[in-house]
Amino acid sequence: MIETSDLAAAAAAATVPHIKLNDGNAIPQIGLGVLRIDDEGVVPVVESALAAGYRHIDGAAGYNNEAGVGRALAATGFNTGDQRKSLWLTTKLRDSEQGYDSALKAFDNSLKLLQVDYVDMYMIHWPTPFNWRSGDTWKAFAKLREDGRVRTLGVCNFLPEHLERLHEETGEWPAVDQIELHPTWQQRDVVAFCQEHGIAVEAYSPMARGADLNAGDGTIARIAAAHNVTPAQVILRWHIENGTIIIPKSVHAERQKQNLDVFGFALSLEEHKAIDALDGPQRAGHDPMTFTYA
Ligand SMILES: NC(=O)c1ccc[n+]([C@@H]2O[C@H](COP(=O)([O-])OP(=O)(O)OC[C@H]3O[C@@H](n4cnc5c(N)ncnc54)[C@H](OP(=O)(O)O)[C@@H]3O)[C@@H](O)[C@H]2O)c1
Repeated sequence: MIETSDLAAAAAAATVPHIKLNDGNAIPQIGLGVLRIDDEGVVPVVESALAAGYRHIDGAAGYNNEAGVGRALAATGFNTGDQRKSLWLTTKLRDSEQGYDSALKAFDNSLKLLQVDYVDMYMIHWPTPFNWRSGDTWKAFAKLREDGRVRTLGVCNFLPEHLERLHEETGEWPAVDQIELHPTWQQRDVVAFCQEHGIAVEAYSPMARGADLNAGDGTIARIAAAHNVTPAQVILRWHIENGTIIIPKSVHAERQKQNLDVFGFALSLEEHKAIDALDGPQRAGHDPMTFTYA
């Protein structure tokens, strides 16, 4: 028998648009981020997100919780068959595993932990320009795609110079660049470069880890009150209307539902301008020129 809760999840999932990628695949515009949740804790978090209607999970080997994500997928049946096909599952290669052979080996391990036989997107986690190996890594990624074990290839934290270098070495632009992007750190130069080259932009820390909920001296809160929604919903709606893929993280089921429920209102041009004007010089995360997650 079909449960009412299953129907509600299916209805919520159906409201989320898909973004067409340069390789022909289509990614749900909202996913659940699982950074900073431990391996035990991530199981109920992924389960509640799937129950709420999330059909896109953004993980990484470096989050040290792929096994927990895998247990949640197995427990809910999202690791095989039609349910697996309905899910977009992303994972990322650790910086320390970049290179051809090491990337292939690391991927085997991720797949085992996730208890699936393919992932939808595999990403280079950081460009590490001071120890550049992304050209070789990409060749391993391309083999995984050829073998049907990965559908889409992406990168994270790549600036235009890194995208150009990867393109020179491999002849390819990635399908997705996942970058830090929120009202107070908009990286318009990177977004413009991606748009020019057919690379979809995916915003990580879409709410600046929560800090932007109070941005602009109450600007976000005022817009939220005008629409009878929360500040989180205003920021996420701004991203959605900009055509950006988003992966908000919450461990709370009610917030997960709220973050998916952003299709019942629209921002005016003035409201967009007010949020655009919050752009500033302060990132919430790390500098891709110098950082490695290892
Ligand atoms: N590729 C990369 O290098 C990279 C780097 C950073 C992040 N990411 C990805 O991006 C995902 C999201 O980024 P993030 O976790 O840094 O930041 P975020 O999604 O901008 O913010 C998460 C924070 O906001 C809170 N929150 C979530 N929904 C809320 C709501 N409706 N109302 C009030 N507070 C809310 C969460 O608290 P609760 O959990 O307590 O609800 C958490 O503290 C990560 O999980 C990860 O998958 C990728």
